[in-house]
Amino acid sequence: MTFTVDVDVPVPMRDGTALATNVWRPEGPGPFPVLLLRTPYGKDDAGTFGNPKLPDVFALVDAGYAVVAQDVRGTGRSPGTFVPHADEGRDGTDTLVWLTGQPWCDGAVGMWGGSYMGIAQWQAAVGDGPGLRALAPVMASADPYGAPWYSPGGALSQDAVLTWASLAALRNLRRGPAADTPDTPAPADAAADAEALLSGLADPRLLHEPLPLADRPALTRHLPWAGQVLGHPERDAFWRETAPIDHPDRVTAPALHVGGWYDVFVGETVRSYTTMRRHAGSAAARDGQRMVIGPWSHADGTDLGTYPDRSFGLHASIKAADITGVHLRFFDRWVRGRTDVADDDRRVRIFVMGIDRWRDEEDWPLPGTRPTDFFLSGAGRANTADGDGTLTRRPPTAEAVDTFRHDPRHPVPSLGGTVLAGASGAYPGPADQAPVETREDVLVYTGDVLDRPVEVTGHVTLVLHVSSSAPDTDVTGKLVDVHPDGRAILLCEGVLRARYRTSPTDPEPLEPGTVYELTVDMNVTSNVFLPGHRIRLEVAGSNFPRYDRNTGTGGALAADGDDDLVVAVDRVHHGPAHPSRLVLPLIERPGTGHPTATGTPA
Ligand code: BEZ
Repeated sequence: MTFTVDVDVPVPMRDGTALATNVWRPEGPGPFPVLLLRTPYGKDDAGTFGNPKLPDVFALVDAGYAVVAQDVRGTGRSPGTFVPHADEGRDGTDTLVWLTGQPWCDGAVGMWGGSYMGIAQWQAAVGDGPGLRALAPVMASADPYGAPWYSPGGALSQDAVLTWASLAALRNLRRGPAADTPDTPAPADAAADAEALLSGLADPRLLHEPLPLADRPALTRHLPWAGQVLGHPERDAFWRETAPIDHPDRVTAPALHVGGWYDVFVGETVRSYTTMRRHAGSAAARDGQRMVIGPWSHADGTDLGTYPDRSFGLHASIKAADITGVHLRFFDRWVRGRTDVADDDRRVRIFVMGIDRWRDEEDWPLPGTRPTDFFLSGAGRANTADGDGTLTRRPPTAEAVDTFRHDPRHPVPSLGGTVLAGASGAYPGPADQAPVETREDVLVYTGDVLDRPVEVTGHVTLVLHVSSSAPDTDVTGKLVDVHPDGRAILLCEGVLRARYRTSPTDPEPLEPGTVYELTVDMNVTSNVFLPGHRIRLEVAGSNFPRYDRNTGTGGALAADGDDDLVVAVDRVHHGPAHPSRLVLPLIERPGTGHPTATGTPA
């Protein structure tokens, strides 16, 4: 393969700033279709180009594409100040204008990249830049509030914010104050700040203590945006300004979405797909959406689909999913416009856990999905896995109340799941929940041992009738697959901050003692519960540091100090008058899941 690379090509933005850009071109005069990556992580960084979640750059060039990689404003070799998300819409648009004016560009552009780079694609896609024919956001979001920074239920993704912001602050610190912002406070002692940021990342207290932002001046000194994130706990104008999901009609390019069941972004990855399928601004964009989801997390090293408590087999690895091939087929179809290329991919390809197989589907939600109630039941002592909580298809006939304390000083630790990458010591993935199921502040509801497979693929919802002693409390839920050997393997999880029960923008305190029906978005999964397994739900008041812990005061969480913390006594009511239930998306497919007509398991 022969190609040329032009390094640090200055690409002018509308305000005169020139962003540093590398251009890889195949041999020959062109013009070529172009695949654009915009990154805050370094356009020259081997991490970007060796990342197994992303397509192989050499293969893209070999297939005849020019590949363009750009350092976003204020990062790498591009001048300016890095304010996450703030400039990517405009700068993405201006880069498309420049690209389509180059003699080596044939006028057709696709974008690619994961995470931040995926969000940046959505931001460019809602601009009016020319030439954009396809997007390929990998483990990304079109709504940065919903993921990765907060969650649909209104709780902060504490682990993600602290980990990512600390690393971004370190990169800023290394660059020094931006030339165009002379007011940026020069660090009194850059070495001490770097030390504070690094030791903050490794601080084991992150696993069980509140977000000590006030104790972290180095973070806000080098990335003032981190303070803004905490200052905007609601999905207000600050978030809406950089939320492409609010403007799907402006998106006219189809997207290839790649996600992981244990990725912090997965809920928004799926929501991007469903929103664009219905509301994108062109028939091609609505029809051309594709989605691939494997049993992966965001953390590097989990791409093999192998975790300490659960291995899905080597065919679950991201390499086996041929991410490069999937990208190439998608770009050939939509960037090159080659309708002659057999687009043999079905719209949705998912890794179905439990049976541990890949399966192609027509769409998401899967055709034929049957949302089915599994009721919480028991005699009022569901605390711990040894309690009396059950999960049943038949509505319970007696009322009961399960009670737990949420103590913000001792939140329930996150074990696996969709934590980011574990800088704090938490790690993502299908972890055994046994260690938290011994806690009195964790309610456990378990179904009978299954005598046939039950497939759950789709969006999981939890509806709970809850009263609290506090003006605000969190309700967290986890869906768990209990294996015959006793392992309680986490599938998906969610949270609702009660003050946001009616609106993500207009918090309303709880009336202590009043029973409310609360709906918890439990995110998405795909799993066949096999015969001999049991379906389990855990309910608690925290899942920390996946989500920040509720201080119980009803006030601004980021401002609440240690002395303010309130222990909440929370009650889950269940029975005929209070139908608390887990709503599972049941699927019937030959040879996989067959929920019974008679209503078992119960
Ligand atoms: C990422 O680019 O990997 C990333 C961005 C935001 C939050 C977490 C991860």
